[in-house]
Amino acid sequence: MSSTGNMGQSLLSGLLAATSPPPDEDNEKLTHFIVTTRRRETAEKLRQLHNEDRHRLTIYTSENNLPAIRESGTVILACRPGDLDGILNTEGLRVELSKKLVISVLQTRTPQEIVDALNDRVQVNGQATNLVPTVVRALPNLAAGWRLSMTIIENPEPLPEERLAMVTWIFEQIGAVKFLFGDAFYAGAMLAGAGPAVMSIALSGMFDGCVEAGLTQAETIAIGHRMLLGLAAPMGRQHHLLQMRESAATCPKGPIIKTLNQIEKHGVRGLLADAMVEGISCFARESPSGVTRQGPRSTQSRFILSVN
Ligand SMILES: NC(=O)c1ccc[n+]([C@@H]2O[C@H](COP(=O)([O-])OP(=O)(O)OC[C@H]3O[C@@H](n4cnc5c(N)ncnc54)[C@H](OP(=O)(O)O)[C@@H]3O)[C@@H](O)[C@H]2O)c1
Repeated sequence: MSSTGNMGQSLLSGLLAATSPPPDEDNEKLTHFIVTTRRRETAEKLRQLHNEDRHRLTIYTSENNLPAIRESGTVILACRPGDLDGILNTEGLRVELSKKLVISVLQTRTPQEIVDALNDRVQVNGQATNLVPTVVRALPNLAAGWRLSMTIIENPEPLPEERLAMVTWIFEQIGAVKFLFGDAFYAGAMLAGAGPAVMSIALSGMFDGCVEAGLTQAETIAIGHRMLLGLAAPMGRQHHLLQMRESAATCPKGPIIKTLNQIEKHGVRGLLADAMVEGISCFARESPSGVTRQGPRSTQSRFILSVN
């Protein structure tokens, strides 16, 4: 799971772990997983990685996702935005997706864009169909593989209760879920999605300083890991960061205050705030619409979940 690092693989790993035997009543919601890949190498890597789960995992290698989608109850689209149109422009896909719950984890393609990209020429009983699939945009992060994702779901107002419950259940298996809409959706998705990458820059700098001062790389990682757990735990109980900082830096001429002063002198906090605003604005620009009132669109997909 961690070796490939892509979203589909993280989701698959997390969901396989969450639904592994012994099955309870709840896990019967997801009994079999169908994955599509474009290249054989990717399929082979997945096979090796999930060999233990081979009895409940089917892997299709094809540009055409229709056969796999036909066999699935719930579809998760996890391709890159650039691959989406090719995947969706498949005759029969609109009809097939209209029968399912479709979840897109694509950051920058809206549910409406997904629906619009579906092949409209399809005919049902000789007549052009106007079926509109229901697409929900849900943005997990790569911690899904460890079942520690923070998934931001774009508030899917028109979704029937049963489908809403299913989307929520799926992403709760791999971490926590929050429903957001409009500006808050973009900000929340960036905090959850880009946050680890941004934090890694701050941590790398801190680790470099500690290595220069005498720690080994391995020691910085071990100590840094525990430090982050100690920071996360009180945050989970709503403790404010300022309060935590003040509790740690009580000695006016002490080393913690000297360190913090150095950081403030270089405007690091403001720089990080500006960086997040820039990223959030870019996200909102590239993906301008919110949830459609009528329903879904879907994306390509790295994998498809079959719900039996
Ligand atoms: N990475 C993140 O942290 C993150 C977070 C939230 C959302 N997302 C979203 O997740 C999506 C995927 O990102 P990623 O980082 O996982 O990209 P990625 O590693 O390139 O994965 C995309 C996958 O799509 C597959 N694919 C392309 N065309 C296909 C087709 N016709 N049929 C079947 N499979 C096909 C590719 O299969 P092959 O390997 O066989 O070519 C590839 O494995 C993006 O839209 C992104 O916005 C990513």
